Amino acid sequence: MSDRRSGQDRRTEAGWQTVPIEVTLQSNFDPIEGLLSAATTARTRAHAQYSQFKVGAALETNDGLIVTGCNIENATYGLTLCAERVALVKALSEGHTVFTRIAVVAETDDLTPPCGSCRQLLWEYCGDIDVILANLSGRTAHYRLASLLPLPFDRRLLE
Ligand code: THU
Repeated sequence: MSDRRSGQDRRTEAGWQTVPIEVTLQSNFDPIEGLLSAATTARTRAHAQYSQFKVGAALETNDGLIVTGCNIENATYGLTLCAERVALVKALSEGHTVFTRIAVVAETDDLTPPCGSCRQLLWEYCGDIDVILANLSGRTAHYRLASLLPLPFDRRLLE
C-alpha cells in the first residue's frame, strides 16, 4: 500500500488509530535538550513536498509535557501550516493553556525563527515564552518572544 492515501481512501477506512501527541520529560533529561530532540524528530515528519524546507517545533507546557508540530504544506500553497502553529493548535485542542517555551528546528545556517503570523499566535496564547532556535549542526540561540514581536497588537488594545 502506498504511504499517501487520498481523502476518499481515508473515508472508507474501517478503523482509526489514535496518535499520541504528548511526550513526558524523563527526570534525568536536560529539558532543553529534550525539547530540541522532540522538535528534531517532529521535523522528520514534515510534509514539505513543495518547498523541501522541513521545520519541527516542540512546545513545552507548564506541567512539563511536550507537544510537537511539523510544517504541513498543501497544493494551494496558501493553506500551508507552519510547524509552530501545528504544535500550538494541537496543544490548545488537547486542553493545554499555559506554556513555558518552544523549540524550532530547521536545517539552515542562519537559524530559522517563527514567521510573523506564528509570532502573533504564540504571543496570543503563550505570552512571553522562551523561543529556542536550532539547526541540525547543533547551533542554538535563545530569545524571548517579546523581543521577536516588540510592538504587538493584542487583546489589551481591544479593551
Ligand atoms: N515554516 C515553518 O514551518 N516555520 C517557520 O518558522 C518558517 C517557515 C514552513 C512553512 C513552509 O512549509 C516552509 O517552512 C517554507 O516557508
